[in-house]
Amino acid sequence: MSANAQIHVIDHPLVAAGLSIVRSKTTTPDLFRRHLQEISVLLFVEASRQWETRAIPVETPLAPCAGAVLSKPIVLVPILRAGLGMLDGIQRAVPEASIGHVGLYRDAETLRPVSYYEKVPVNVAAAEVLLLDPMLATGNTACEAASILKAQGARSIQFLCVVACPVGVQQFQREHPDVPIITAAIDPELNDHGYIVPGLGDAGDRYFGTG
Ligand code: URA
Repeated sequence: MSANAQIHVIDHPLVAAGLSIVRSKTTTPDLFRRHLQEISVLLFVEASRQWETRAIPVETPLAPCAGAVLSKPIVLVPILRAGLGMLDGIQRAVPEASIGHVGLYRDAETLRPVSYYEKVPVNVAAAEVLLLDPMLATGNTACEAASILKAQGARSIQFLCVVACPVGVQQFQREHPDVPIITAAIDPELNDHGYIVPGLGDAGDRYFGTG
């Protein structure tokens, strides 16, 4: 993990191996899906590392012992559409989590993200909130989505992505210095079309097989 408090780059052999598979242009959509989900779970494990727990008593078949439950509810918010690719694996790990959705498109004139769909669980203010999008490219979409969550009351947010780039990281940290970024990689640059290079291509197209 990097030393910077607000960006964690996960240094783990399973993440490195999975990332190589999702990056490869020869990876089929079924393998891409599987490995994107596995990487997302590993990011989730890191994101949840510091979450508070409450002590509870547990009776095993043999004896009483000390147990724990999470203190706060969990809210997962994929940014449509590619963020859905990170949802399934995490949802299997924490089936009790509530799911919100944020949909944004880019206005052709202003090039700014515009919200077309927002549905956030009512308990968002009390929850540990994870905002999900595989690619942190320009940062505009992630920044807008985090602002939407804050406007709905979210107070403890982390942003999980698979590949980030410096421009997006800087933009996000400027606008949301209180929201940690958890990523599997930081790639060097964006091309003229807003794709991260080397990146992994269009995450949504590759996940949904629409490319
Ligand atoms: N969105 C993607 O799917 N890929 C990129 O490289 C950048 C944004």
